[in-house]
Amino acid sequence: MHNSGDEAEPDGGTAGDLAASQASGLSRRGFLARAGSAVMGAGLLAGYGTFAAYALRYLYPAHPREQDWLLVAPLAQLPKGAALAFVAPDGQKIAIARQGEGESAQDFVALGSTCPHLGCQVRWEGQNNRFFCPCHNGEFDKTGKGIGGPPGKAGQSLPRFPLKVEYGILYIQVPLDSLPRPV
Ligand code: FES
Repeated sequence: MHNSGDEAEPDGGTAGDLAASQASGLSRRGFLARAGSAVMGAGLLAGYGTFAAYALRYLYPAHPREQDWLLVAPLAQLPKGAALAFVAPDGQKIAIARQGEGESAQDFVALGSTCPHLGCQVRWEGQNNRFFCPCHNGEFDKTGKGIGGPPGKAGQSLPRFPLKVEYGILYIQVPLDSLPRPV
């Protein structure tokens, strides 16, 4: 009697069985490939997530860094046009320059003196009314904005620190701790 189903195969199966088994093999491979991609994607996400968590923690520490006012010098020791080097407790190097004749904090400026280009030390040039980096002729205006050389081209600036004057003495506000590190 004629078999209305699939033709018999040598190993005893049918063409239908073979097609079904091929289809199931394909779908198994497809499933495994998709599962592998999903696992890889999850791994990548976890890696990026960890990196993002460290970055956010660095940028927005849970506890704001402790700041305090530290004595710089009596005003008389820093005449107009002069500058001095100051090192904050966390190691940041700062250039403090007297730019005016007056005796208020506005007559002074305190800027991080590490050049944002490649890290050389910038210095105040009172006669040129600018901060200057000798490594690649980097130039900053009196407020620390890059105006020449690589920092000028890149639009980089020097970080500024608050100053105050009390009883003829100049103080600077700086972080007291060292930079937080991811754990
Ligand atoms: S390191 Fe200052 S301009 Fe290059």
